[in-house]
Formats: sequence, structure tokens, C-alpha cells
Amino acid sequence: MTYRVALLPGDGVGPEVIAEARKAVDALGLPVEWTELPWGSAYWHEHGRMMAEDALDVLRAHDAVLMGAIGDPSVPDHVSLWETILEIRQKLDLWANLRPARLLPGIPTPLAGRGPEEIDMLFVRENTEGEYAGVGGRAHRGLGSEVAIETSVFTRAGCERVLRLAFELAEERRSLVTSATKSNASRFGYVLWDEIAEAVAVEHPGVRYERILVDALSARMVRSPESLDVVVASNLFADILTDLAAAIQGGMGMAASANLAPDSDAPGLFEPVHGSAPDIAGQGIANPAGAIWSASLMLEHLGEQAAAARVLDALATVCHKGPKTRDVGGTATTREVGDAVGAAIGAAAPA
Ligand code: NAI
Ligand code: MG
Repeated sequence: MTYRVALLPGDGVGPEVIAEARKAVDALGLPVEWTELPWGSAYWHEHGRMMAEDALDVLRAHDAVLMGAIGDPSVPDHVSLWETILEIRQKLDLWANLRPARLLPGIPTPLAGRGPEEIDMLFVRENTEGEYAGVGGRAHRGLGSEVAIETSVFTRAGCERVLRLAFELAEERRSLVTSATKSNASRFGYVLWDEIAEAVAVEHPGVRYERILVDALSARMVRSPESLDVVVASNLFADILTDLAAAIQGGMGMAASANLAPDSDAPGLFEPVHGSAPDIAGQGIANPAGAIWSASLMLEHLGEQAAAARVLDALATVCHKGPKTRDVGGTATTREVGDAVGAAIGAAAPA
């Protein structure tokens, strides 16, 4: 059987890091058929849209999507994001966004005195509703009375499925779920979220459950990351918390993510957490680790557990011994890191 993988390199550093992620997968020798898709900001300038008209059907015809990042200073961010990643997450109903935040040995963390054994969190982000549901509007544009309304959407079904997944994942880890909430100030959505979390916790007596206000949680991530295992949060909260988590695990270049529709046949979408990094694009210095790690998550979800582990092990070896890019204390280029990971995968080939 051949895996059909859609590659969506995108903008800025996206193509630079995706080339290295692809190199890692190719080093495994698995039967993978790549389809490279040209969508993104340049496509928008040419065609007036970020993706082809039949984009979702094209993606559905694949087993997985591996994406770089999309966004360019020449296109408004709300256009580029809403016409690509948010559109894909919603229309394919990729409701679960898994973001491992683990510090690999050899990677510096800004938390003084902390090491890899203390930083191993898994964020489970609700990925289709909450504050990014796209419900709202603007009236009286340009007038002094102008108003903009952005409505958060919390549905019972939407909360339940993501909370349940968080508990199931915790059962395979250290059996702790921390739910981020804000049900003191928000009286509706987060109160529903808490009630459902409470009920799902009862279904999983082997998992310790705690809920914590998101502001206090952000402080706790910095002060005692070792006290966190699985963190489940709404779309907005997890978006913000996982940039903080990325910083703790060595920076934006390290963080990986999987957008999934568990129990459906929609393809998962795998992407580094970072954006297109226009400030360093074109220089060949972006860290490909988050993209390579995302490729490992992709292999895991394609059912290639051993291959996924080989990619992650090779990445960990390279993070430990170098070469490394400058954001994590090295001097190497993007390609040198990718080549080293590819070589480490080859060197560890099963007999
Ligand atoms: P960003 O993640 O692109 O950059 C933030 C900082 O992290 C920058 O200093 C950048 O140089 C650094 N950084 C990012 N990736 C790195 C890597 N691989 N190696 C080393 N350093 C790295 O976030 P920013 O600047 O807020 O957004 C830039 C553009 O990306 C915007 O257009 C935004 O809308 C878009 N974006 C797209 C996302 C996506 O496609 N899923 C996600 C986040 C942002
Ligand atoms: Mg983000």
C-alpha cells in the first residue's frame, strides 16, 4: 500500500522546513507518494484566492497533509488564515489539535535550572469552535459608533469530544488532565466546558482531573511545568498557551502539531506550530525540528509507529549532538540539520 501525502509548504520559512521534513520521511524508504500543492500567498496574488476551488476535495483524496506555514506581509492575516488553515480545520472537521511540548536533551530552555525530565506536556486544543468559530460581524464601519462582535461558540458535542480525547490520552501517559478555563469571568461557554469536563472525569476514575483558570495556568507552566501532563483547552486558550509551551521547549522552531478528526476518514493535517517567520525567511536558518517532529506525528497517525519513532529518535539524537540552528544555540543551516536527521534515520535502519 502507498501513502498519499499532500504537501502544503506555504509561505516564508514553510517551504524551507517542509523540504527537511520530507527528507526525513523519504529516508525511511516507505512507499509515500507526495503531491505538492502551490497554495498560499503567491497563489492568492495570482488567482485571488489562497487555495484552489476544489481544495478540500483534493485534500480528502489524500491520507494525510503535511503543511509548512501560511502568511505573508502582503496579504491580510485574517484572509490568509481564514482561507487556508482555519477553512481546512473546520471543513474537514479536524477538531483535535495535539501539541506535544517536550524538551529534548541538548535543547536550551529559558526556564532556569529546568531539564528534559521536567518538561513533557501534551496540549489538546479544541480546533473548530470556541473563539475561532467565525461568528460575529461589524456594523457602522468607519463611524465613531462602529461596533465589532466576535462570539465564542461552545457546543456540548464539541466540548465533550475533545475533553474525552484528553482523558483517553492521559490514560496512556501520567494520568493527569488539567483543564484550562475562565469560568469566573465568562459565565456561559466556560461554565458549560467545566460541567462537561466534570462529567467526563467521572467516566475516567483512573485519571486525576483538575481545572485551573487560564491566567493562573500560564504562570504555573513557567513555575512548575513538571506538574503538568495533559492540558486541554479551548481554541484560543490553547493557541496562546502553546506558544508559551513552545518557548519552554526551546522556541517556536521546536514545536509540532497534529490536527485530527479521530474516528473519521478525513486526512489529518500535520504542521509545525510556528508561522511563516517572515523575519528570517529566505535565509536558510529556520529550525526544521518542529516540521520534522510533525512528520513523525503524521507517521504515527498513519499507523507507522516504528517509522514515527525512528524519525523522532533521529531528531532527538541530532538535537543532542548537533548540528543545531541558531535559535537553539547552534550555527547550522536548515538543510544541515535536515541532512543530519536523514543520515541518523539511515544509520538506524532496521536490519
Ligand atoms: P511566527 O511563528 O512566524 O514567528 C514568531 C517568531 O518565531 C519569529 O521571531 C520567528 O523568526 C521565530 N520562528 C518561527 N519559526 C521559526 C523556526 N522554524 N525557526 C526559528 N525561528 C522561528 O509568528 P508570527 O511572526 O506571529 O507570524 C508570521 C506569519 O505567520 C503571519 O502571517 C501569521 O498569520 C502566520 N501564521 C501562520 C500559522 C499557520 O500557518 N498555521 C501559524 C502562526 C502564524
Ligand atoms: Mg498560534
